[in-house]
Amino acid sequence: MVQTFITLNDGNKIPQFGLGVYQVPEGEATINAVKTALGMGIRHIDTAHAYQNERSVGKAVKESGIPREEIWITTKLWPSEYGEGKTSDAIDKMLKRLDTNYIDLLLLHQQFGDYIGAYKDMEHAVKDGRIKSIGLSNFESERLEEVLNMAEIPPSVLQVECHPYYQQNELKKRVEKYGTVIESWYPIGHGDKNLINEPLFTKLAQKYGKTNVQIILRWHIQKGTIVFPRSTNPVHIKENFEIFDFELTEDEMNEIRKLDSGKRFFNMTLEQQEQMLGSWKPED
Ligand SMILES: NC(=O)c1ccc[n+]([C@@H]2O[C@H](COP(=O)([O-])OP(=O)(O)OC[C@H]3O[C@@H](n4cnc5c(N)ncnc54)[C@H](OP(=O)(O)O)[C@@H]3O)[C@@H](O)[C@H]2O)c1
Repeated sequence: MVQTFITLNDGNKIPQFGLGVYQVPEGEATINAVKTALGMGIRHIDTAHAYQNERSVGKAVKESGIPREEIWITTKLWPSEYGEGKTSDAIDKMLKRLDTNYIDLLLLHQQFGDYIGAYKDMEHAVKDGRIKSIGLSNFESERLEEVLNMAEIPPSVLQVECHPYYQQNELKKRVEKYGTVIESWYPIGHGDKNLINEPLFTKLAQKYGKTNVQIILRWHIQKGTIVFPRSTNPVHIKENFEIFDFELTEDEMNEIRKLDSGKRFFNMTLEQQEQMLGSWKPED
């Protein structure tokens, strides 16, 4: 099975499919999940400082024996690390935690605090080789345009909630001219049973001899978004990756488009997010 890559606006090639490790505990759980994924041929891991498991991701990558340059690591800075000079130091700490001398993709995790100062430091880190690609996560307000307009290096990706119930077609249009690609978080609705068991997915799963989750993940791939479902179950990790040997028709893609109901699983106003997320600080 040949997995697909996307060439980003800076020329770097990212594996379109990866493994997410949100809410996977530091230690054996993360190490095992990452090693299992790498052992199956998955070459893209999505972590964050806030997930508190970067050390385990770094350990698993080292212990896998796979050359570092064959693995794509994405991680994210938390608002408590934003600010010119401050972000540069935070990047150095991140490199230590991940036990690597460069990061493939670094994102600003949330749209709060001194994100402009942080973005400038990320641009410097690209120039001095500590970071290959940079991007944003959860910037869906007008703060997105604020960064897009000041950026010397436009964001390569924008990581947001995206699944068949919330397809992000408007947001995709807002970033199109910058060549920014959408990355889907909660790609299978955080495991939501109603989404997974949609009759349309059951029908398509029967047609292609696949599971409902595989149909959803294949839809992400054909839509051109980057996707990294989370699982610690080796059976699910394998199943999720086996989506490169079939293709949904245009009519089927259009049928799935009709499921776009505007339903989000993470529902908070900007003010609520700022209150909840802005005050929290991950440990080093
Ligand atoms: N930037 C952000 O703010 C942000 C926010 C949220 C998430 N993310 C990223 O996006 C990634 C994915 O999001 P997520 O982990 O929250 O949600 P998700 O990938 O949509 O769903 C994960 C859930 O689905 C289950 N699952 C996985 N494969 C399955 C399968 N084949 N069949 C049935 N159930 C399956 C998992 O359980 P099992 O372990 O039992 O398989 C887990 O409970 C995260 O890990 C993280 O990297 C980013």
